[in-house]
Amino acid sequence: SALVKKLFLQGKVVTINQEIDFALAEEIAMEYDVICELEEKIDVIEELLKEEEEDASTLKPRPPVVCVMGHVDHGKTSLLDAIRKENVISGEAGGITQHIGAYVVDIKGEKITFLDTPGHEAFTSMRMRGAMSTDIAILVVAADDGVMPQTVEAINHAKAAKIPIIVAINKIDKPSANIERVKQELTEYELIPEDWGGDTIFVPVSAHTKEGIGTLLEMILLTAEVGELKENPDRKARGLVIEARLDKGKGPIATLLVQKGTLKVGDHIAVGSSYGKVRAMTDDKARKIRSAGPSTPVEILGLDNVPNAGDIFVATDNDKDARRFAETFISEGRERLIEQTKAKLSLEDLFTQ
Ligand code: GTP
Ligand code: MG
Repeated sequence: SALVKKLFLQGKVVTINQEIDFALAEEIAMEYDVICELEEKIDVIEELLKEEEEDASTLKPRPPVVCVMGHVDHGKTSLLDAIRKENVISGEAGGITQHIGAYVVDIKGEKITFLDTPGHEAFTSMRMRGAMSTDIAILVVAADDGVMPQTVEAINHAKAAKIPIIVAINKIDKPSANIERVKQELTEYELIPEDWGGDTIFVPVSAHTKEGIGTLLEMILLTAEVGELKENPDRKARGLVIEARLDKGKGPIATLLVQKGTLKVGDHIAVGSSYGKVRAMTDDKARKIRSAGPSTPVEILGLDNVPNAGDIFVATDNDKDARRFAETFISEGRERLIEQTKAKLSLEDLFTQ
């Protein structure tokens, strides 16, 4: 009955014992598969991260981590850019986001950590990781284009990760913008605006004129407040790899999102299946820093190898523990993740040929 309802909402009226064509069956199967796989990945990661419950007295408020998702070219990077008032899109190859960028923005003393994600269909796993590592998803939908395939995919990732979605209807400065149509289209995915009796926050914005940006930021802070986000900063750090690469001169460089505790220069650290000692650390503005608390994205040097985006990192007491964690990670967690990713990739290859 879930499938019948879903098809009905897409304007296809079918009965329970009716045949559908292969293309449609494939489309539905892919969508359900993505959700199941994401849930499995979260299970694996949670199992690896399982540890003693933090004593409530040690918890301190931390900034929200917000991931910006949506269809290609709907204006995610421009929107972040408008928020940061700096120009990064001009520096990207062809204006298409290749990696997740991580930025911290200070709004009147309140910090928000943003993760940019690419909208191109080839980057499903990056969007998945984006949703997995964040507290709130900003769904960017261009008012002149409406709901598109990666819009739907982003909704599914956010729902699977069980994070609240704030809808930013972008490009409202365009003459062809149709805000009502976007709202109407999103009702099919159970995102109903508050003024239509639902509980999803919709903010019409323009990255170009900056209209609505202030309201969007307020809504993010409001949503974060409801979540009462807290972490213990006075413990060894844990978090996720956002991206990593090999620099010819500096060796492996990893962008990490610290989720718990505080990461310090000199810490022994296991990052997925690599390990090492934090030799140098820079923040999102390329400034050298000595320590980074919860919800902070940092770039670090000092690993023996390039880890994978999405890997977990933990700071350890000594070099031996770091190596042991890396080895455990290889044997227990990573293989399963790799297997799942491979399965997913081969499926993708199959369908894009
Ligand atoms: P990917 O990262 O490739 O998925 O794209 P994106 O969603 O980050 O889009 P990007 O910010 O690169 O913007 C795509 C195009 O839309 C650019 O040409 C922008 O100038 C334009 N654009 C973005 N926001 C607005 C807006 O508010 N109004 C208008 N008129 N154009 C916009
Ligand atoms: Mg972009």
